[in-house]
Amino acid sequence: MYNFTVKSVIHDYSVTFIEDTQATLLAELKEGDVIIIDNKIKELYKETLQPVLDKFRHIGIDAHESVKSYQGVEPIMQYLIENGFRKNHRLVAIGGGITQDATAFIASIMYRGVKWYFFPTSLLAQGDSCIGSKTSINFNKFKNQVGGFYPPNQIFINLEFLNTLSDAELKSGLGEMTHYYVVSGEEDFARLKREYAAALTDKQVLAGIINRSLEIKKGYIERDEFDQNERLVFNYGHSFGHAIESLTNYRIPHGIAVSYGMDMANFVSVKLGYISEETRLYIRELLSQIWAGTSISDIELDKFLVALSKDKKNVGKTLGLILNKGIGKIFRDMRPADDEFVGWMKEYFETQLTEAETV
Ligand SMILES: NC(=O)c1ccc[n+]([C@@H]2O[C@H](COP(=O)([O-])OP(=O)(O)OC[C@H]3O[C@@H](n4cnc5c(N)ncnc54)[C@H](O)[C@@H]3O)[C@@H](O)[C@H]2O)c1
Ligand SMILES: [Zn+2]
Repeated sequence: MYNFTVKSVIHDYSVTFIEDTQATLLAELKEGDVIIIDNKIKELYKETLQPVLDKFRHIGIDAHESVKSYQGVEPIMQYLIENGFRKNHRLVAIGGGITQDATAFIASIMYRGVKWYFFPTSLLAQGDSCIGSKTSINFNKFKNQVGGFYPPNQIFINLEFLNTLSDAELKSGLGEMTHYYVVSGEEDFARLKREYAAALTDKQVLAGIINRSLEIKKGYIERDEFDQNERLVFNYGHSFGHAIESLTNYRIPHGIAVSYGMDMANFVSVKLGYISEETRLYIRELLSQIWAGTSISDIELDKFLVALSKDKKNVGKTLGLILNKGIGKIFRDMRPADDEFVGWMKEYFETQLTEAETV
């Protein structure tokens, strides 16, 4: 595994692969630092973490999307303010993307910004969200609407955490990483497709996929940290994906929703003549393995279109969609949500999902 530094306009930060989480925490933490930890991790890794939790103050959170909200972060901030947490102390997040986003959001606004460390424990957090500086929380039903950019100071990745992930969470992480591989190009995508099945059972294969995913993402975020130009393509699958997440009340894990979302973006891309049906099906072969066993056919088209209209990439009534002109050629396209578009989405829901569920 290789360790590296990510260049950031805010502050550069390091990614280090570690094998001993307890030793790293005990070496890095100082008096006054506060750990924000996913309760599931606290329970599953009791033996490893207890000596650290005995020594440092910590707040356990249940990793639900509701934590990523004003209401969710308020009690955490109240605890910090009431318990002597100061600007020179650090926050330490141990958990997946939800623990990360809640902690990052708090770190970015507490006392105009405090340092924070991140120990990602889910595949999605290790292979994607840990780098990139984004800190958004949700606003009511709408996903990731409020936030900014505020990277951790250090990220420590221990692959051992992945041993306790459910099959769905592993697939969610692989689904999320897939969008980097499609953006990157033919060779990367072919590799992911080839190694997908092995990655579900072989941690060495999975480690290679994580490494490459972070490498692809690093290239883009160092050029466009604030999502103004090149980085926008990483919203591929996300406009549709966020709508799916919110309309299923987050029953569908993020990376699986994004996999459906990429397929929808590809469907629209075929309609617009950007890619062939053959390319769409080539990508779908991988995506359908990721969403296998889930179903989104209970989503109502009208509600889906309303959710899509709230996407933050839209300009006025025009949808800011990330579409596909071929693997390695993902781009932003501004499209009206006109009758033609609505017809395509209707066709997708009527013809593509029944088949998807049985794959
Ligand atoms: N900030 C960013 O750049 C960014 C990027 C992508 C996604 N996200 C956000 O991340 C969230 C999704 O991340 P996630 O999938 O990690 O969510 P999560 O934090 O909810 O973790 C998913 C589930 O796995 C459990 N879990 C985590 N680590 C585990 C482990 N080692 N063993 C067993 N169970 C474990 C959690 O308790 C939870 O039930 C979404 O809210 C998404 O919007 C943020
Ligand atoms: Zn994502």
